[in-house]
Amino acid sequence: MTTATPQASDLAINGGTPTFESNVPFMAVGLTKNDIAAATEVLESGMLRAASKCAALEEEFAKQSDANFGLTCANGTCALQLAYGSLLEPGDEVITPAWTFIATVSMLVAAQAKVVFCDVLEDSYQADPADIERLITPNTKAIAITHLYGIPVDIDAIQKLADKHNLKVIYDSAQAHLAEYNGKGIGAYGDACTYSFYATKNLGTGEGGMVTVNDEKLATDMGFLRSHGETGKYLHESIGFNYRMNDITGAIGLSKLETLGADTDRRRAVANIYASRIDNIQGVLRPIPTANSNPAWHLYTCRVDLDALTCTRDEFCAALNKEGVPTAVHYPKPLTEQPVFADIAKNSDTPKVAEKLATCVFCIPIHQNLTDDQANGICDALAKVANAFAN
Ligand SMILES: Cc1ncc(COP(=O)(O)O)c(C=O)c1O
Repeated sequence: MTTATPQASDLAINGGTPTFESNVPFMAVGLTKNDIAAATEVLESGMLRAASKCAALEEEFAKQSDANFGLTCANGTCALQLAYGSLLEPGDEVITPAWTFIATVSMLVAAQAKVVFCDVLEDSYQADPADIERLITPNTKAIAITHLYGIPVDIDAIQKLADKHNLKVIYDSAQAHLAEYNGKGIGAYGDACTYSFYATKNLGTGEGGMVTVNDEKLATDMGFLRSHGETGKYLHESIGFNYRMNDITGAIGLSKLETLGADTDRRRAVANIYASRIDNIQGVLRPIPTANSNPAWHLYTCRVDLDALTCTRDEFCAALNKEGVPTAVHYPKPLTEQPVFADIAKNSDTPKVAEKLATCVFCIPIHQNLTDDQANGICDALAKVANAFAN
């Protein structure tokens, strides 16, 4: 039990005793024995292409997400290409957040859509429905948004806008496996949800991805786009690509899916510890999930309250790292500041919230292997650093 308020000299970065003797792992990646056995079975079978394992992963993942159909694919970027390629036409105006991973937007550009950047909400980090509404024009055809960090967006508000203006909705769910909204899996909503199974994702197969949809014809069309527009043996009725998964990846995904529900619940339990503790730490602000949502907590992203502290975000994180708490910054820039989007940004409003988030967000560890003691220790370290830098 600490009795005195921590001073700067107590910080490990200044020679004090660190909160943890060794660093807490930031994430839990890798394969279990079961994952390896599942992959080995496929290797021994010689069936390396997409076959029964991919098919089973599609069925089971869609079911667990409350979607009707799933399509495995090579990665989350291909998943976006399948969704955009099936739902958008070149020249379509699409509203998308300035605060997300690059692929959500770069694949819109690749699909020849006209990108319109919207801002996000400061406490949930999710696309701001009011800003989306402000940006809708007669040419708007779709909304492409991310359930960022695994926190669902305000789906009710988005769906209302989509219904009113006849818009397609694509949810980039790369960080939101098994997240829920209004008591249902996020796959129940929108025209398509796209997922990444990159190694560090909540379900990480190395590389891999999935699209879920609820419309059977859309699922069929996406299947053609995924594989050379092949409608029959060597019969090609449209242009398609090769965005397929393989059965080794499929088997690893299926094996990991067996524990994904429990792993996600453990992330939620850690998030609950963080929420109850961080609310009492001056200078640190926690994510506030969208109403009626149950996040998947891919990342637990806090903000430093720069008005309450004498340090910058990077100085705060450097001190936290020395206490044994690794951090990450997702993301250091809003997309309007990425050189590749300079031409789009020139004609966009400044996303003020996204710009502010770039100066103050930082992620702390969250994963299924984190113990209650570690989660509490991380909060102790946050409090120690925040107190030492208090204004
Ligand atoms: C929000 C988001 N969208 C898309 C992707 C792209 O997924 P992948 O790396 O599997 O292509 C990622 C991966 O980091 C992501 O976080």
